[in-house]
Amino acid sequence: MTTTLGLIGAGMIGSTVAHLAVAAGLDVVLSNTRSPDTLANLVTDLGEHAHAGTPADAARDGDLVVAAIPFNGYRLLPAAALAGKTVIDAMNYYPQRDGRIPELDANGLTSSQLVQQYLADSRVVKAFNSITYISLGNRARPAGDPDRSALPIAGDDTAAKAQVAALLDTLGYDAVDIGTLAESWRSEPNTPVYVQPYFAGEAPKGLDPEEEFRWHLTNPGVPVPADQIRKLTNTAVRGKAGGYLPGLETA
Ligand SMILES: NC(=O)c1ccc[n+]([C@@H]2O[C@H](COP(=O)([O-])OP(=O)(O)OC[C@H]3O[C@@H](n4cnc5c(N)ncnc54)[C@H](OP(=O)(O)O)[C@@H]3O)[C@@H](O)[C@H]2O)c1
Repeated sequence: MTTTLGLIGAGMIGSTVAHLAVAAGLDVVLSNTRSPDTLANLVTDLGEHAHAGTPADAARDGDLVVAAIPFNGYRLLPAAALAGKTVIDAMNYYPQRDGRIPELDANGLTSSQLVQQYLADSRVVKAFNSITYISLGNRARPAGDPDRSALPIAGDDTAAKAQVAALLDTLGYDAVDIGTLAESWRSEPNTPVYVQPYFAGEAPKGLDPEEEFRWHLTNPGVPVPADQIRKLTNTAVRGKAGGYLPGLETA
């Protein structure tokens, strides 16, 4: 059972997961590249169940660890401290931000397979990558709530996936197992399950893509139950790897 969640990356997605974890009664250890001091406000905001440390501290102290950093930093994750741990990979490949990664552009490996190759002694499970941090914060509901949403998870280790599913349950989500890390492209950017299903309504006409995305972020959204996640991931067709961030130059 997870009682302490380690967070490597304490930005939009890391801090949202931390808020959900503390609300569910877990302890969290947050980390970033700068220093634990720079996380003081966030730690104060989260309360007595939150602490800040280095990425290696978060890796060592967490029963389970979330990697929520820009994808191009995955080789900076503290592999030795993460050995033997289940690591949730919340990262996505965005070439504009991360630079071009030939292995991914060739569609040979998924981004999570690359992370698993690097973290050879950890059990990598992809999760939290297919929902915006705002939807993730908004849509958590207790088990049995008719408005409960689900999130896809993928991984090569069955026990690790069970551990992650139990964490999601604690945080307010059902988990849908979509297969191995080789299958995790089904929840990557540009697939039907990615981000959009949790958005509600039509944005006003005349907005550019960045404004339209912002409009959706500020709207409350809709629940996406497990059956819908299953249908969307089953019908996905693999396309070009990598997402597109409106407002950034194209790589
Ligand atoms: N934002 C979303 O809605 C969302 C949703 C799903 C998935 N994701 C994915 O989640 C990842 C994080 O996205 P984000 O939006 O949360 O980014 P973000 O707000 O920019 O936060 C990134 C965090 O990672 C830290 N960081 C960067 N490199 C690090 C390293 N090598 N070791 C430890 N910490 C490091 C940063 O700390 P410093 O500032 O100290 O460098 C910062 O706390 C990305 O791969 C993204 O594609 C994002």
